[in-house]
Amino acid sequence: MKIFVPRDAAAIAVGADRVAAALRRLAAEKGLDLTLVRTSSRGLFWLEPLVEVETPAGRIAYGPATAADAGAILDGTATAIALGLVEEIPFLKRQTRLTFARAGITDPLSLSDYRAHGGYRGLERALSLGIEATLEEVKRSGLRGRGGAGFPTGIKWETVARATAPRKYIVCNADEGDSGTFADRMVLEGDPFLLIEGMTIAAAATGATQGFVYIRSEYPHGIAAMEQALAIARQENLLGTAILGSAVDFDIEVRVGAGAYVCGEETALLESIEGRRGQVRAKPPIPALRGLFGQPTVINNTLSFAAIPFILAQGAAAYADFGMGRSRGTMPVQLAGNVKHGGLFETGFGIALGELVENIGGGTASGRPVRAVQAGGPLGAYFPTAQFDTPYDYEAFTARGGLVGHGGLVVFDDTVDMARMARFAMEFCAIESCGKCTPCRIGSTRGTEVIDRIIAGHDRAANITLLSDLCETLKFGSLCALGGFTPYPVMSALTHFPEDFGAPPSPAVAVPAAAE
Ligand SMILES: Cc1cc2nc3c(=O)[nH]c(=O)nc-3n(C[C@H](O)[C@H](O)[C@H](O)COP(=O)(O)O)c2cc1C
Ligand code: SF4
Repeated sequence: MKIFVPRDAAAIAVGADRVAAALRRLAAEKGLDLTLVRTSSRGLFWLEPLVEVETPAGRIAYGPATAADAGAILDGTATAIALGLVEEIPFLKRQTRLTFARAGITDPLSLSDYRAHGGYRGLERALSLGIEATLEEVKRSGLRGRGGAGFPTGIKWETVARATAPRKYIVCNADEGDSGTFADRMVLEGDPFLLIEGMTIAAAATGATQGFVYIRSEYPHGIAAMEQALAIARQENLLGTAILGSAVDFDIEVRVGAGAYVCGEETALLESIEGRRGQVRAKPPIPALRGLFGQPTVINNTLSFAAIPFILAQGAAAYADFGMGRSRGTMPVQLAGNVKHGGLFETGFGIALGELVENIGGGTASGRPVRAVQAGGPLGAYFPTAQFDTPYDYEAFTARGGLVGHGGLVVFDDTVDMARMARFAMEFCAIESCGKCTPCRIGSTRGTEVIDRIIAGHDRAANITLLSDLCETLKFGSLCALGGFTPYPVMSALTHFPEDFGAPPSPAVAVPAAAE
């Protein structure tokens, strides 16, 4: 008998280890020949711990399972939590899983499992194509950075490849600071060889010899999985010198961040790796030309690297076939907050925001009407339900003052007080500001005070004007997007929910195009 139990942190948090231990113990007592595989999560978090039993028809799912269900699962009588064939669960069936194709299926630390499910075909093809054709493939895929700014990945790689320098670096941004996001963590814990392969392809395409994965300290399971996978890859000559018999020499080390949101900003992250306080560097020079230790550096989000093996293995067109407009391929959307079906939903760009929240997410967990959705992390705008027709697309979101960002969607029901959410955004900026530039360092504290006065009902009209002015200063005067984008949540709350600020409908807010 073969049973799969996730060992993803989200599953462990709700008892997956206890379920696995109970299955092992009872199987031994019953004399059953049990093979128990600890997989990663499928990303259907409301069903965790999601136990899967192999049958000739496919894997049958049970969830959410407790240790008390173990006996019935082994006997095939756990009907109360039986979900049928896992692949037929609508939340999973409706997805297009390119990046997360192996999630929940394989043992994350089994290299043979990884290879059996298509792993390392991308690197093999990249090595046979050579530098120019690999760069061309990444450019033609239309892949844009999944960390926030949506910059074309192929152009970034090409800039590093064309630079002449004694040393080049590949840096993976796994700081994943955005509220409601967890896709990076799922890659680190659930498919670490995918990230190693993606970074190695980047090294082969740019001539970099050293890589770093910068992981937030709150991800101990991800750090451990990455370290173990790196050791296995080194043993198997998938890292080190002459990788797979090629001329590529490349190794990767893990670096652990200390928990500052701003350390996810690429230049602050580089400062942090270099051993300094995480403060933003002025650009130019861009990291692609002068990055880590002053050398040309590819810095990409975990999901950007994780998309690469598919693109190289299947070809750019297979990826670019999905999506709309300039948003090509798939996005692992992360549904969180007050939502019934929270989890990871990978889909081609173009799906309507409301479809994601209401139909796929199932509306709120509280059962009350949805009032707002914050898209793109703490610097992203709040969308009211009136804008639920917005297609999930970089340009469509920007046109409505929003942000795709790292793919997070945080749902709120009708009990939310949007003035308090605006205050939270300003206070977040004040707490997380690196302090380098005045609009952000001082403006965010003054902004919090102004919102306090609005909430308290002091001279509301004048204070709302002052808040709008201050947001203009933050938008155009800040050195990086922490100060520059904080106006998005603040002004979207004020624009779409003026009644929460005790105000009449406010004038339209012009939010500038996303830039870093
Ligand atoms: C305040 C701030 C925090 C950020 N946090 C992250 C983060 O946690 N992870 C990430 O990948 N990018 C983050 N970014 C974006 C990075 O600066 C950078 O654009 C990204 O790592 C580039 O990779 P990509 O092109 O693959 O998206 C942040 C940016 C800012 C301004
Ligand atoms: S906007 Fe804020 S976080 Fe960014 S450089 Fe200025 S002070 Fe630092």
